[in-house]
Amino acid sequence: MLLIFMNHSCIQKLFSIKYPILQGPFGGGLSSVELVAAVSNAGGLGGYGAYQLQPGEIEELIADIRKKTNQPFNINLWVNDADIEAAQLSDENYAAIANNYKPFFDELNIPLPPKPEAAYSKFEQQAEVILKCKPAVFSFVFGIPDKTILIECKKQGIKTIGAATTLDEAVTLEEANVDAIIASGFEAGGHRPSFLKPAEDSLHGTFVLVSQIAKNVKTPVIAAGGIADAGGVKATMELGASAVQIGTAFLACKESGASDIYRSIIFSDRAKYTTLTKSFTGRLGRGTSGVVAENSSNLPTLPFPLQTKFMSPLRKAAEEQGKTEMLTYWMGQNASLVKFKDVNTLFKSLLQGFDE
Ligand SMILES: Cc1cc2nc3c(=O)[nH]c(=O)nc-3n(C[C@H](O)[C@H](O)[C@H](O)COP(=O)(O)O)c2cc1C
Repeated sequence: MLLIFMNHSCIQKLFSIKYPILQGPFGGGLSSVELVAAVSNAGGLGGYGAYQLQPGEIEELIADIRKKTNQPFNINLWVNDADIEAAQLSDENYAAIANNYKPFFDELNIPLPPKPEAAYSKFEQQAEVILKCKPAVFSFVFGIPDKTILIECKKQGIKTIGAATTLDEAVTLEEANVDAIIASGFEAGGHRPSFLKPAEDSLHGTFVLVSQIAKNVKTPVIAAGGIADAGGVKATMELGASAVQIGTAFLACKESGASDIYRSIIFSDRAKYTTLTKSFTGRLGRGTSGVVAENSSNLPTLPFPLQTKFMSPLRKAAEEQGKTEMLTYWMGQNASLVKFKDVNTLFKSLLQGFDE
């Protein structure tokens, strides 16, 4: 354990944390203050996925987290949080795309919802809150913030983490002078955060991606995707990662914002099969296979985040009617390896593994 921690002490020093273990931030209401605090208090870096929150809500959130931990934590945003087309979807386009999904709504005896309201990016205003409230770490996906934001973070001592799904993205992040780079392999749960090429053309496994990036950039690399136990931590660190970011295994813990249904699916046989689908949000993400994902792979989607809004009544009705087999629940390929149900036990197991 000591040897690995000493080799990678740059991350601990950079973020002022005891162990090189980051809890992956979750969007979609699945992060929680309790989870962030539990991970940061255990000596890792807790993270909150805040991209859906209004700027004022992020300010309150940061104050709430500070009531539960005095340790460093990470606030995560999406740089590209709304497709341009989401500002101007015509009624005709909406009807043409929505109609393809009618059989799924019919199956639940619910009508197709009305066209969702136009959506616009909140990122610039959210980033102002980051600069005002100064969390220790600010991580972002789907692009790189404007130079002025990154320079201001440096001035204020806020450490920045960008996410790469290809070596080219990692090099671009290094040129932007971020403090650390997540190497996000396609095993990972949730959205593929590609920003140079389409996500479909940027699918690399964690081992390949970590190795490529660690060999070609000087910025510390954080491995993410498919890591659920100490063996995964050790393996990715041997490939050159300075830390790991673990998502699905923390999502399964009782402290996360996941519902009881969601958690039970992580611990069920369904967790053995995950797929990449755009059908629920309009952007490619990994979650459980399900009837909708399996039967809609060729259908066009509304722009992000309108597809999410469009599908939300379907999600709600399917859960209320006990038809969860229709839905995709975001989780990684490692979901069926997940064992622990609370942060302290999971965290201890990751550390004990190092000892062995
Ligand atoms: C439900 C869910 C939501 C996620 N939302 C975000 C997000 O908003 N921002 C982000 O940077 N990463 C997000 N991720 C990715 C995680 O932070 C983490 O990098 C990933 O889960 C690691 O892979 P693993 O699930 O195989 O452990 C999400 C992952 C899941 C499972």
